[in-house]
Amino acid sequence: MPSRQNSLRSVVLGVGSYLPEQIVTNADLQSRMDTSDEWIVQRTGIRQRHIAEKSETTSTLATRAAEAALADAGRSAADIDLIIVATSTPDYTFPAVATQVQAALDIRSGAAFDLQAVCSGFVFAIATADKFLTSGSNKRALVIGAETFSRLMNWEDRTTCVLFGDGAGAVLLEAQQSNGELHDRGVLTSQLRSDGRHREKLYVDGGPSATGTVGHLRMHGREVFRHAVGMVADVVEEAFAATGTSADDLDWFVPHQANRRIIDASAEKLGIASQKVVVTVDRHGNTSAASIPLALAEAHADGRIKKGDLVMIEAMGGGFTWGSALIRW
Ligand code: UT7
Repeated sequence: MPSRQNSLRSVVLGVGSYLPEQIVTNADLQSRMDTSDEWIVQRTGIRQRHIAEKSETTSTLATRAAEAALADAGRSAADIDLIIVATSTPDYTFPAVATQVQAALDIRSGAAFDLQAVCSGFVFAIATADKFLTSGSNKRALVIGAETFSRLMNWEDRTTCVLFGDGAGAVLLEAQQSNGELHDRGVLTSQLRSDGRHREKLYVDGGPSATGTVGHLRMHGREVFRHAVGMVADVVEEAFAATGTSADDLDWFVPHQANRRIIDASAEKLGIASQKVVVTVDRHGNTSAASIPLALAEAHADGRIKKGDLVMIEAMGGGFTWGSALIRW
């Protein structure tokens, strides 16, 4: 990749996550609606999902994940001057979840805001934080993906409600001097795309301006599936091209966790060996913007992702939006 001497890079200092205690299995759903464990596992790979209690909201999940990331990094909240929360399920229309996290952590300086790119939200948030940090305007960022998608479900609609779950994950990034080499730690590149013409394939049928209601998620699953693999493969290939890397150089592939079939088909198309793929969809379901940081936190905590590893993240979701980021851990 083109090296930029004495430039800044956004380096991962820590990662953390939080999952609600309540677990809903496929068998639980089978007892409530016309579905089966066999159908859900075969079509999606999902076996269970975590669902927030009434007392829990996106900001409470996000705060727990942020605290875990701070602890992992050995940093205190006072070190943070930027919080970006990727979410499509804020506690309230406003204020932003990020400002609620900021208050919960007793942070009184810097900026905090939400970013909405649905399932691609965490990749968009990493790219955004990276631009703040590498411009020199901010020093340390909490980048959080947090969702309570269970609140957007029509629990009578078996084609959507079996797919999603709740949770949050957070990454702490710090601007550090770099020689701009491929082996130097930090975010190496990010590739973001959107195409609003696909709105009808995946959307929520309510909102403050259109209906004055929260609404329910609606999805033409087969149509989304048809586009997903090609779109994520494109942005991953673009990340390889931007950095002069290839699938063989990757240590870990951490895709958005929507469907095991999409994950496997994407890895296969990209020539990424299956043992390099981090999978959590079986236990978490699709947690939208939270799925990648939840998977990063798991693979970091169990020792799979280590300092210096090359990690590719990617996602695709409502909008459509899609994107990738390549990180030297
Ligand atoms: O994270 C954002 C991006 N979202 C995604 O990536 C999701 C992408 N799409 C998918 O993952 C898949 O399309 C689904 C998992 C949503 C569905 O799988 P599919 O293989 O595309 O199934 P389908 O929608 O074509 O439905 C097949 C059949 C239908 O019955 P008929 O019309 O063939 O008789 C559905 O009614 O499966 C039926 N079905 C179910 N059966 C049992 C749909 N949902 C269920 C269910 N239980 N929960």
